[in-house]
Amino acid sequence: MPTVGLPCCLQTSGLRNNNELQSVNHPKGLRPNSMKNQGTGKLQGKVAVITGGTTGIGLAAAKLFVKEGAYVFITGRRQKELDEAEKAIGGSVTGVQGDVTKLADLDRLYETVKARARIDVLFANAGVAEFAPLEGVTEQHFDKYSASM
Ligand SMILES: NC(=O)c1ccc[n+]([C@@H]2O[C@H](COP(=O)([O-])OP(=O)(O)OC[C@H]3O[C@@H](n4cnc5c(N)ncnc54)[C@H](OP(=O)(O)O)[C@@H]3O)[C@@H](O)[C@H]2O)c1
Repeated sequence: MPTVGLPCCLQTSGLRNNNELQSVNHPKGLRPNSMKNQGTGKLQGKVAVITGGTTGIGLAAAKLFVKEGAYVFITGRRQKELDEAEKAIGGSVTGVQGDVTKLADLDRLYETVKARARIDVLFANAGVAEFAPLEGVTEQHFDKYSASM
């Protein structure tokens, strides 16, 4: 059966442009693992933003990034899942509730991160996938998928 789905990728869409990202270059008040332990992980001292970091691939990535020494900001629409994900990650994490299809939420995410850190890694992971036969794919499917890309 043919399916439709969203690509998963590393990109900088949604959070302004590279010049603005590069201007955010001084962590303020964050204590990534590296700052506490001076460890040897691949992401020591790095700050990562992972959209859709409360479940699945995003949560797994957040756990791995923290294990490798990063401080991570994760997002998701549901506050309860966000709280649970923060607990599961265990430290070096800030959850920011928001919907990536809403520009005001993306602005709030950007301002929250900018107030405290630079951005070294942006994992634009948030998205949804729905399975449907080709003849059942609607304009709403495309609207929903393209909104979160
Ligand atoms: N798993 C696969 O086989 C596969 C294959 C190809 C592509 N992908 C893509 O890889 C990404 C992750 O997949 P997954 O299987 O890990 O999905 P998942 O377990 O359903 O997780 C999706 C995450 O994104 C968040 N999210 C969804 N829509 C959002 C929105 N509009 N704004 C903010 N957060 C949003 C969800 O939290 P809330 O619901 O609380 O917002 C959740 O944290 C998705 O983009 C998916 O399309 C997955």
